[in-house]
Amino acid sequence: MTESINVSVQDPHSYSNINEIRTKHLSLDLEINFENKTMYGVARHQMSDSKANTAIFDINGQVIQKITIGKKGAEKEADFVIGKIDSDSILGQPLVVSIPRGTKYINIYYQTTDRCDALEWIEAENTASGKYPYLYSQGQAILTRTWIPLQDSPSNRFTYDATLHVPKGLMALMSAENPKYKSPKGIYHFEMNLPIPSYLIAITVGDISYKALDKQCGVYAESPMLNRAVKEFQDLPRMIDAAEMLYGPYAWGRYDVIVQHKSFPFGGMENPMLTFINPSIVAGDGSLVSVIAHELAHSWSGNLVTNESWNDFWLNEGFTVYIEHRIMEELYGKELSNTLCEIEHYELVQELKSIASSSHPEDSRLYLSLKGRNPDDGMTSVAYVKGAYFLKTLEATVGRKKMDGFVKDYFQYYKFKTIRTEIFHTFLNKKLLYPNNIEFNTDEWFYLEGLPLNSIAIKSKRLELMRDYADQTNRGDDIFAQVERYRWVKIKGKNKKRKESYMEQLDIKNFNTQEWQTYIRNLSLRIDTTHLDQIDQYAHFSEANDELKFEWFLLNIKKENRSIRSKLRVFLIETGRRKYILPLYRALCLNSKDKVWAKQVFNEAKGGYHSVSRNSISAVFD
Ligand code: BES
Ligand code: ZN
Repeated sequence: MTESINVSVQDPHSYSNINEIRTKHLSLDLEINFENKTMYGVARHQMSDSKANTAIFDINGQVIQKITIGKKGAEKEADFVIGKIDSDSILGQPLVVSIPRGTKYINIYYQTTDRCDALEWIEAENTASGKYPYLYSQGQAILTRTWIPLQDSPSNRFTYDATLHVPKGLMALMSAENPKYKSPKGIYHFEMNLPIPSYLIAITVGDISYKALDKQCGVYAESPMLNRAVKEFQDLPRMIDAAEMLYGPYAWGRYDVIVQHKSFPFGGMENPMLTFINPSIVAGDGSLVSVIAHELAHSWSGNLVTNESWNDFWLNEGFTVYIEHRIMEELYGKELSNTLCEIEHYELVQELKSIASSSHPEDSRLYLSLKGRNPDDGMTSVAYVKGAYFLKTLEATVGRKKMDGFVKDYFQYYKFKTIRTEIFHTFLNKKLLYPNNIEFNTDEWFYLEGLPLNSIAIKSKRLELMRDYADQTNRGDDIFAQVERYRWVKIKGKNKKRKESYMEQLDIKNFNTQEWQTYIRNLSLRIDTTHLDQIDQYAHFSEANDELKFEWFLLNIKKENRSIRSKLRVFLIETGRRKYILPLYRALCLNSKDKVWAKQVFNEAKGGYHSVSRNSISAVFD
């Protein structure tokens, strides 16, 4: 054991000494064993030229068998020590390898364990088709180190290749050029020839099929989901066209999407060449496809130009939300993109309130200071929405034309590089603000808490109507009741009209998911529960898509309306997306009776959650 090793200078979440020596190319050779839920094999690192006499990697949960130095076949064993685990085990451990100066090849032989949190192993009976087991990984922010020993910092980019040995009958996919058919022998080879940060290495293995959307993109899924997903994502080729038109060529060749297992903890994850999507996004009516636009947008912001550390997370996500809205506007019009934007503003305002009264009020700054903390703590709507509002406010100030030119130049200039707030600030001044003589309160946006006063406000007209409906409901009116109306109809054969009465009822289908979401959010907690039950009998929010189910359940939990319990229980067991289940558990825990019930449900459900969701929810019960 060594003494504790310091984290790297530019990245508080990695022990690696990337300032001295860096991986340039990673070559994986792994056997995927579903019986004992482990992977074992070797991670061969090809290093930069360096005079360093140690190379430090991040690990978390693996067993290291041996480390060798030299090209494959001509290897010599090397000494290594594993450093102390940090007290709350967020970062894992430094793996310190002694190397002769000028070492080029470091090969780490290892095996994963059940403590490797990136990996979710799923038994056959819990998959969509029920026949074969399934595996996927989630690397962001610092979980790639739990299944590959590597320098796990977004500030280093490298290329990779991988050979995977999987059971026959299964397809293996990675964030790389992917197969379209199963390999009869269960051996797959992957190449990612463009340099990427470690958090974007990803794997999925299962009974997966593929269907093309066009030449460049398509959908992977377990077969029961495939056709539905292809229909849901049919606009994807047009989204790619729109993004390229705005921000320059798509750099990654293919863009495919895989509909993940239902336990997937996020709505989507932008793994290059293969976005992972939560199955709840396949809602049946295209109502949640903005998540696809979002992950696609990361092909520029995040994957091409990457945050240097998780303190600069807003440079990934703020830009991505901004671009997501631009893509949505191109395809579906300004009203829908304004709707999304206004809804997110509401979420930001709520989050800013809770951050202001938390133990870390500084978390409402765009530039974060997450040293010593879990980078997950920075995953708030500050990075996403405050980040996007910064860019929208900037756009409103300089004009769309200049803004578009600037963002396009930014991606061109920093492509395949990493970026931090300070560098972005300099680039912004030099390329946009100084040449156009524009004063902008950039420092306030980046370094101060809260939302600056000059932030633009975006309003959607249709949402106003929904708030109006909510007000009517809050006053006790039944907006779904049939009402008698009159119209004039022509009398046959005569040149006269007569008044005719007819019954009219509000049609749920006249409004989209985001509009109903706004309606629910504006319902008052003073409405009595029988009225809520009546609304649901007509509107079926508790049986709608996951976004609406979530809003409905949250409101009903706050109202202590226990008639929803059986549906809520199913939802909590069947859904893995943290954005939904974590706030529901939190709301349940505010009431001691509901807390007992929630704990029972959690105990039943937790085996089916990915560690990302499971760990966050466990903390709620502590
Ligand atoms: N890259 C994120 C997901 C992520 C962030 C995982 C940080 C781990 C750490 C992804 O692009 C994302 O933002 N997903 C959102 C989509 C939404 C904003 C449209 C999600 O999952 O909710
Ligand atoms: Zn994102």
